[in-house]
Amino acid sequence: MRQFLKFRRFLLLTVGPAVAAIVVATFAGCGEVEDTRPGQPVKQRQMAFKEMVKAFEPMGVILRKGSYNADKFLPLAEALVAKRDGPWPHFGPDTNYPPTKATAEVWKQPEAFTKDKQTFIAATDALLAAAQSKDKAAVEKTYDAVHEACKTCHKQFKER
Ligand code: HEC
Repeated sequence: MRQFLKFRRFLLLTVGPAVAAIVVATFAGCGEVEDTRPGQPVKQRQMAFKEMVKAFEPMGVILRKGSYNADKFLPLAEALVAKRDGPWPHFGPDTNYPPTKATAEVWKQPEAFTKDKQTFIAATDALLAAAQSKDKAAVEKTYDAVHEACKTCHKQFKER
C-alpha cells in the first residue's frame, strides 16, 4: 500500500493528475485484499478508525500551526468522542484475516488490548473537558495524551 501511494505521488509529479487518475484507477485493486466475509468486520473497523482520524487529524494540524481557536476546536473534540467507540465491536473472535492490519496480539492479549482501549477513551474524555474549558495549555497536553494512546496501542496491536 505504501509503495502504491508512492507510485501515485510519482505519477502525479511526472504525468500530471489526469493521466495519474487513469493509471491509478487501472491498478487500484491489485494488491488490495477485499474483505469478503459476511458483515465485513475488518472493513467496518478500518472505516471506523478512518472516521476517528477525520476528527483527530485536524486537531493536530490546528495545534501544530499554532492557530488554536476554542470554538473551532471544540466540535472536533466532540466528534472524536462521538466516533471513539466505532471500531471496537468489530474485533470479534475469529476476525483476524486479510486485509486486517491488526496483530495476532489483539486476540492473544485481550486484556491488554482492552486496557489500551480504556486508556484511549479516558484520554479523549480529558481532551473534551479541556476543549470545553477552552484552556489552550490543557488542550495541548490532553491532545498529546490521546496521541500517545493511539501510538501505544498501535505499537503492540497494529502492523506497520
Ligand atoms: C486499543 C487500540 C487502538 C487504539 C487506542 C487506536 N488504534 Fe488505530 N488501530 C488499531 C488496530 C488494531 C488497527 C488495525 C485494524 C485492522 O486493520 O483490522 C488500527 C488501525 C488504524 C488505522 C488504519 C485504518 C486502515 O484501514 O488503514 C488508523 C488510521 C488508525 N488506527 C488510527 C488511529 C488513531 C488516530 C488513533 C487515536 C486517535 C487510534 N488509531 C487509536 C488499534 C488502536
